[in-house]
Amino acid sequence: MINTREKSQDASLSTVSKVLKGLRAVFTGEDLIYGVDVLVENGKVLKIGKDLDGDEVINLEGKVIYPVFADPHTHLLYCGDRLKEFSLRMEGLSYVEILKQGGGIYETVRKTVSASDEDILNQTRERVEKLKSYGVGAIEIKTGYGIEFDEEIRQLRIINRLSEEFKDVDIIPTLLFHVKPKDRDFEDYISEFFSRYDEYKDMLRFVDVFADEGAFNYEETESILRFFTDKGVRCRLHADEFKPFASELAGKYKCISADHLLNPSDTGLELMSKNKVIAILCPITGFFLRKGFAPYEKIKSHNIEVALASDHNPGTSPFLNPFLVILLAVFSYGMKPTEAFRSYTYIASKSIGLKDMGKIEVGYRARFFAIDFTPDELVYWGEVSPKVVYLDLS
Ligand code: NIG
Ligand code: FE
Repeated sequence: MINTREKSQDASLSTVSKVLKGLRAVFTGEDLIYGVDVLVENGKVLKIGKDLDGDEVINLEGKVIYPVFADPHTHLLYCGDRLKEFSLRMEGLSYVEILKQGGGIYETVRKTVSASDEDILNQTRERVEKLKSYGVGAIEIKTGYGIEFDEEIRQLRIINRLSEEFKDVDIIPTLLFHVKPKDRDFEDYISEFFSRYDEYKDMLRFVDVFADEGAFNYEETESILRFFTDKGVRCRLHADEFKPFASELAGKYKCISADHLLNPSDTGLELMSKNKVIAILCPITGFFLRKGFAPYEKIKSHNIEVALASDHNPGTSPFLNPFLVILLAVFSYGMKPTEAFRSYTYIASKSIGLKDMGKIEVGYRARFFAIDFTPDELVYWGEVSPKVVYLDLS
């Protein structure tokens, strides 16, 4: 039986308005506004302006408030580390060489498939908590360390479990075709995913392919894109990180994003621009692999929107810190600090399909973080561990 008294109390609670006061500035997801309050009701921003009233006051004296970061490209689900590979690379062996010899991603697959659900869940949860402590309130998490059908689906299920667990962080599951099995041909391997689609279709939001040397080639990537696009699933690609061929496919199949783009082709950029594909840049990866940085100016000159991501994974980007990503984006790409924050909040949210997040504007979801710094101040001081207040009022 429904307890009406409790129900009406709940309803009245949810309409309590909250006003954020004492703010030095608000970063709207576009730029900074000084000297205003933010009024929140029913989980959304209701008003931004001077001297606002609300049922409850939250005092954030002197702080600068931001919409939460979205991390739109992560491989948070894995077990173990790749410290040995790191040493080998420091001695001169290349990432692709190690991968072709059956190390790299295959090494993490071995460690992950032999772990229990609980182990994987615990290690991944810790990484989500850490991201949250930095002000990240939406995270795309890819599978990809399973390879075989049953393992990939187990990993999707674990990501979905985490997504249910976290009420104050949106977790977006992506099925990633990362590398091919060593002992089966492509057609045989992929046909299982195609024929059993109905078994996992409700567990994923996006499909991704590592379309590059040592992983899936042009034709293989195209057959995956064709199948899932026909099913109405939006795809994204690991594109042009080593060999440039995938940005073209991202354009042709109207992917939501093409990520990495360390060596994008001109045709690829043209097709991305025409089809409004967002570029997700991962500056830590190029830095960590000592492969340089994506050509930001060139990408921008094609009128392509740019998001930023950690690309957290044990092989090419073990770092998690979004403030470090911002710093690298400013000094390597030449982004303005506000532009870097916009790329990691508004554009990043959009690139994982979250249309009401990433801005502090009327109607947007009220999930914020507050720090003591404006974008310029944070970058100028090289601050990568500011004290973060996480505020989920959504
Ligand atoms: O985005 N490039 C492919 N995937 C990851 C690396 C994964 C790994 O090395 O474990 C990336 O860099
Ligand atoms: Fe990646």
